[in-house]
Amino acid sequence: MKVLFVTAEAHPFVKVGGLGEVAYSLPKALKSSEIDIRVILPKYKFPKKIRKKMMLLGRYKTYIGWKSVDCELWTLNNNGIQYYFIGNSFYFYRNDIYGYGDDDERFIYFCKAVLEGIKYMYDFTPDILHCNDWHSSMVSPLKKLYYVDNEIYANIKTLFTIHNIAYQGTFGKDTLWMLGLDEHDIQVKKLELNDGISFMKWAILESDKISTVSESYSYEIQEEGYGCGLNSIVKKRKKDLIGILNGIDYDIYNPEKDSNILYKYSKQNLDSKIKNKLYIQRDLKLEQDGSIPMITIISRLVDQKGLGLIEAAMKNIMSLQVQLIILGTGSSYFENKFKYLETKYKNKLRVITEFNDCKARQLYAGSDMFLMPSKFEPCGLGQLIALRYGTIPIVRQTGGLKDTVKDYNEYINSGNGFTFKEYSVNDMLESINRALNMYKNKDLWIQIMQLAMDCNNNWEKSSQKYKILYKNIIK
Ligand code: GLC
Repeated sequence: MKVLFVTAEAHPFVKVGGLGEVAYSLPKALKSSEIDIRVILPKYKFPKKIRKKMMLLGRYKTYIGWKSVDCELWTLNNNGIQYYFIGNSFYFYRNDIYGYGDDDERFIYFCKAVLEGIKYMYDFTPDILHCNDWHSSMVSPLKKLYYVDNEIYANIKTLFTIHNIAYQGTFGKDTLWMLGLDEHDIQVKKLELNDGISFMKWAILESDKISTVSESYSYEIQEEGYGCGLNSIVKKRKKDLIGILNGIDYDIYNPEKDSNILYKYSKQNLDSKIKNKLYIQRDLKLEQDGSIPMITIISRLVDQKGLGLIEAAMKNIMSLQVQLIILGTGSSYFENKFKYLETKYKNKLRVITEFNDCKARQLYAGSDMFLMPSKFEPCGLGQLIALRYGTIPIVRQTGGLKDTVKDYNEYINSGNGFTFKEYSVNDMLESINRALNMYKNKDLWIQIMQLAMDCNNNWEKSSQKYKILYKNIIK
């Protein structure tokens, strides 16, 4: 079975969020004698040492509307996985990955160049194009539209995975020409959303199968509140929709081996976990005392992740006997706001507005609790990493958070965290307080940490589900 995994980001080359992480770990877990899975992404402004390892497979052209544009297909092998890169300096040799005024054109181009690029892969004709999020969402519809008479392409099936329906590639109708369409084409109905167009809408309608990154999220997006305008379209396709929970790479995230942390530890020697906490307290100039509960937020600082709730609850949280650390970058509103709050609560609050993987690992290792009060969460990876490091998640019951974190019940010693239902300051504080109360009982807390570390969130189970899904698609 041959699968081409199409994505806008993939670790170790480029990672902005969870997608980049999954685009690394899922293919790694799937690659086997049975599945030849390869990954394709844009050739961004990579460091020279990566560019030097790439081999050019072909130069060809594609069209943006009537405009002919150049494409290059590059390749390299990394840890046994074959990667392909679409090269066009104008579109991709830039400082950032997303956020440009011509993102519509850049990613339409990417999708078209991927489709045409298949011809230059020589030893590899995919059975399945596995596309991810809006950046690669034009692959399935454009394949249907422009390659309908091509026998090779007609046999290629498509899977579209929604990592986040809130980012669906919405643009004005003045984008249509880039797809070779004008307002009167019958296709346009399939893209129309409000006054403009939605890339994801077309992909949901035209892909053979659709998946989401947790089971709960697959149901949530059929409802109005979560579907971001596409709920009825998703519902229409519900027979072909499946939720498969993301996993994390247990080699990369391993408190026994992680080279980013000073004191390695396991379920059996949790004393060393506290040493990591003392190190953080020293490093961040917080009071050094192993018994003060340390709560961490590692997140993009955006509304989705519940940062508004944290802002509203800050005064209350700061009145508790805790240390709170926030790590992440995001909207300038939240960055500035939390930086300001840090000066106000300098004894208890630290805000690090960086995208810093090493610091993140140290915090996962050294903290006691991991707070993730998301408004919505397709899967969420932070809580999975936290569990692996014995750091107890406090989460809102939504999407993947609901599927992976269960309330701790001391009477039957089951569960792995603390959860709350409503998106409200009171509900969140209630579950923080529940966690803090249990924390006072050292033996009990050790049991909770061990339960957390016993959870298995590697890719084993979920990659099997993808395998079955792939088989079904080909059938
Ligand atoms: C998106 C979602 C996140 C998910 C990730 C990987 O970033 O917001 O919940 O974990 O994609 O699928």
